[in-house]
Amino acid sequence: MKRFVLTLTVVCFIIQSFKAGEKELAFVKDNFSYADVQLKSMLNKTEKTAGFPRTTKTGKLVTTNMYDWTPGFFPGSLWYAYEYTKDTALKTAAVKWTERLEPLKDFTQHHDLGFMMYCSYGNAYRLTGNIQYKDILVQAARSLSTRYDSITGCIKSWNEFKSWHGDKTYSFPVIIDNMMNLELLFFASKASGDASFRKIAVSHALHTMKNQVRKDYSSYHVVCYDTVTGKVVGRETAQGYSDNSTWARGQAWGIYGFTMAYRETKDKRFLKTAQGMGDFFINHKSLPADKIPYWDFNIGEVGYIPGLKSNAKPSSPKYRDASAAAVTASALLELSSYPGRHSRNYKAVAVQMLHSLAGPDYRANLGTNGNFLLMQSVGSLPHSSEINVPLVYADYYFLEAMKRYNMMLEGKQLFGE
Ligand code: GLY
Repeated sequence: MKRFVLTLTVVCFIIQSFKAGEKELAFVKDNFSYADVQLKSMLNKTEKTAGFPRTTKTGKLVTTNMYDWTPGFFPGSLWYAYEYTKDTALKTAAVKWTERLEPLKDFTQHHDLGFMMYCSYGNAYRLTGNIQYKDILVQAARSLSTRYDSITGCIKSWNEFKSWHGDKTYSFPVIIDNMMNLELLFFASKASGDASFRKIAVSHALHTMKNQVRKDYSSYHVVCYDTVTGKVVGRETAQGYSDNSTWARGQAWGIYGFTMAYRETKDKRFLKTAQGMGDFFINHKSLPADKIPYWDFNIGEVGYIPGLKSNAKPSSPKYRDASAAAVTASALLELSSYPGRHSRNYKAVAVQMLHSLAGPDYRANLGTNGNFLLMQSVGSLPHSSEINVPLVYADYYFLEAMKRYNMMLEGKQLFGE
């Protein structure tokens, strides 16, 4: 009898798990069907524009030129949607929007080549195997490497950074976001056999780990270096609430970047950092129940003071940042596939984030939101820029996370050996 009850329990468990899996596969399918329609409407809208979709202003589409940091995300979203739906109209558009970015392979004016080229050409190469795309990516990695400095051990993010305190301009700022650009370098080393790209990426990640991640695994947004001594001369914020606060998207870039650095190196220090940063994010007292963070973890808290010239104020509204959640969801799914005490929880929280983002509070109705997918992101509150709006990178990482979740539901490994 005991044996029968046990067998019945196991069978019931298997049936329930199967049903839950089916439900989640349908959830992913619904989101890609929705994305297919929104992206095609966006394609119609952008047919005659030279610009790259970024956000909306008073309901109207805002685009940027290709030299901004975000032009790779729209083609990247088209690639992810094509990958799932196999809709060839999306592929044709993805090729067109990707190839428009070719001149960027020689661009050296800021550090965002990884975002610009790996999200576009990286996905294009992964999905088509077109050898020209590989060569373009390697050349882009060469361009990015020109910003590396062997004294600081880092890639310079921006050419200068003006402090919100109004007293200083720094000439070698490094932002936590820069961790995201390293994936292009790791790729280029494997694709070209030139180990120097990888060395630069590892050096940058080690210095960021040491200088930009705090003891409690929160993060500074901007760390500035002296190029003669290599020493840190400033730890401030550009897009966060205050120098000592934790900007939600910055933390998200860190979780993602260190998870990716672990994937590429198997260096346990990077795994520990990714896990620490992930734990900080998901266990933070100010993280709302739906797991979509406010734009900064410390808005208006005692002991956190915005710079004099910053538009962030103690009374600043606590807007959510869907983009930070989308980046984090994608990162946590990967992190959950690596060994660790909390790996199961990373997956559970990531899935919860995805369900929140796909719910009515964050996912726009079809035909609205300038045809972006997600609402409620924040570009930079201190700059009074892009507040509580759709942002193209929120959509990109939402689709990437959905794709990763789908692979997990199908029992596939996210990244092959
Ligand atoms: N990399 C710029 C940003 O996250 O807003």
